[in-house]
Amino acid sequence: MNDQDAAKRAAAEAALTHVKDGMRLGLGTGSTAAHFVRALGERVKAEGWELRCAPTSEATRALAVEVGLALLDFDETAQLDLTVDGADEADPSLNLLKGGGGALLREKIIAASSRRMIVIADETKCVAQLGAFPLPVEVSPFAWQLTVGKLRGLFREFELGDVPVRLRAKPGGGPQLSDGGAYLFDCALERIPDPAGLTAALNQIPGVIENGLFVGIADTLIVGGENGVRTVEAPAR
Ligand code: 5RP
Repeated sequence: MNDQDAAKRAAAEAALTHVKDGMRLGLGTGSTAAHFVRALGERVKAEGWELRCAPTSEATRALAVEVGLALLDFDETAQLDLTVDGADEADPSLNLLKGGGGALLREKIIAASSRRMIVIADETKCVAQLGAFPLPVEVSPFAWQLTVGKLRGLFREFELGDVPVRLRAKPGGGPQLSDGGAYLFDCALERIPDPAGLTAALNQIPGVIENGLFVGIADTLIVGGENGVRTVEAPAR
């Protein structure tokens, strides 16, 4: 395990202290979230806890089942107690840029339906301003060229210039589809001075299913680094 992975695991293990028996939990996607799912599986086995979990991707669903976690039936609940997920970037107000793993839609649905969202990350994810990581936007395959044209126009309206917008491809070729069967476009914005304004405007474009900006959703950030783990709380909203 390299240092970055060790930092991700430390953050994941620290998040475990916020989990209580009987909770309904949202499980994030990505390598940091996978550390959490594995650690949670061990804890549930050791303690005999009865938790029920909502995975945010097919990959996380498979891992949750593999480590023996019980899955949640969405008909039975309107709200989850806690979601623990990773992020590609987090700013000092705990606005997030997510979707590097392509699971942004399910991640946002689950996080927005949780009483609390804890983000787990290593120090490389903490930024002064979002946008160095290309922003993923999930787009309906129908007439996607028109939707992408509108995306480019919106970025110009936001004075972000002629932003390169790239269809995410599978390693073997062909589009990398989201779990919901949509296209993923990675938008190299470089800077996002107004995450709240941009996320609202993006989601107004017909054909945009969701975008990777999570504004005002995360409550707590747990960061693993060389000197252990630190916790950042979101400003009062
Ligand atoms: C997946 C995500 C992940 O949380 C994000 O990409 C971080 O991944 P990792 O923990 O592997 O660095 O948003 O859609």
